[in-house]
Amino acid sequence: MITLDIKGISTFVADDIPEKFYNESIKQISVLRNATGRGNDFLGWMNLPDTIGNQTEAIKRCAERLKSQADITVVIGIGGSYLGAKAVIEALSDPFGKNEDHKVVFAGHTLSEDYHSSLLSFLGARKFNIVVISKSGTTTEPAIAFRILRDHLASVAGTDEKQKYIVAVTDAHKGALHNLAVKEGYETFVIPDNVGGRYSVLTPVGLLPMALAGLDIDAFVGGMKEAALLLREGNDTTFNMAVVYAAARNYLYTRGYNTEILVSFEPSLTYLAEWWKQLFGESEGKEGKGIYPSSVVFTTDLHSMGQYIQQGERKLFETVISVENARHSLVVPSSDDDSDGIGFIAGKHLNEVNHKAEAGTRLAHIDGGVPVMTITLPEVSETVLGQLMYFFELSCGISGYLLGVNPFDQPGVESYKKNMFALLGKPGYEAEKERLEKELGL
Ligand code: PA5
Repeated sequence: MITLDIKGISTFVADDIPEKFYNESIKQISVLRNATGRGNDFLGWMNLPDTIGNQTEAIKRCAERLKSQADITVVIGIGGSYLGAKAVIEALSDPFGKNEDHKVVFAGHTLSEDYHSSLLSFLGARKFNIVVISKSGTTTEPAIAFRILRDHLASVAGTDEKQKYIVAVTDAHKGALHNLAVKEGYETFVIPDNVGGRYSVLTPVGLLPMALAGLDIDAFVGGMKEAALLLREGNDTTFNMAVVYAAARNYLYTRGYNTEILVSFEPSLTYLAEWWKQLFGESEGKEGKGIYPSSVVFTTDLHSMGQYIQQGERKLFETVISVENARHSLVVPSSDDDSDGIGFIAGKHLNEVNHKAEAGTRLAHIDGGVPVMTITLPEVSETVLGQLMYFFELSCGISGYLLGVNPFDQPGVESYKKNMFALLGKPGYEAEKERLEKELGL
């Protein structure tokens, strides 16, 4: 099981986190459990570990069908309809694509013409599957990508055949994607009404792409279930790591530490940090409040952001994801020529060197004025990632309530869309277009 250690913040919080933060944090678990807080119609994620098992066989069957008819699947989605699957697949796949029996690539998370053109040229004349994911069914980025890829699919698979290569994951009853799926007869999976995008990794949104990538989705569900049982069920104590994490980060926030950096020493966890940033950023950044979530991968970023973290403005705190065991074995070779000066570590595993770098960095940053918490993972596996993601989801719900915001809405996401539609000349936006163009000096 994952663990949390907050010793690295003790220098900065005088004696300890004041009891009221713990008490408040504990109280918010029951607010979540009893659905008495803000946004309580979006709490479906809390019980998904108990119920999603009913769908995993259908998800696996669909993945097998898709894999049997093409070697590549393009998963279309953005935000919460993209980052969870991307995070888990990146964390567990070989970075160079070795042993990949089925390639999963992503689209619709950007409006880049170059990205999508390159994707079309990569697909070439091959047949491929499309898994298109959008809860609302009306998000612009995936809608554009779906149009482009649907046309391309029709050209390689034939207009009459293309339906069998497309699976839609969307709302059960409404939205443009739902309507199109019904009209065209695509296989579909449902995103429950009471689960918001960034909390949807344990629905077909996350599980279908993971199954396509050859991952063990039962183990992922199992990890989520373990964390749910441990953290959600009656553990209203300071031994509950979700309580402690939420209390600690909110206390640090009140002391002026307004930026949290999620640190890992594994490049494979880069997208896990992207998922975490969306989870906390969209849940807490509102009403003029919220800890700014950022991320680094060390030791890579010690050679870029390390300077700022060590000696820049003192408003940062770090949460380190520490992975105990590597999945492979590799030692530093010995050499007759020791002019590089690293002969003293010859024979040591890279993982040991990485851990010494981690310990040294933690101490240096604490000395430099950065509070550090550490979440330890026994290894990177489906089970452990399931535990970690549920822990973060629950902590985020508690933390958002501690901050006094609704952690389950995202009203601010609409602003850029309104401007973009107006500037593109969408009917009904004429006055707004005129105003914005004047502002832009057009
Ligand atoms: O967390 C969220 O709700 C958002 O990030 C959405 O997931 C994102 O905007 C995509 O929305 P949709 O799935 O409706 O296309």
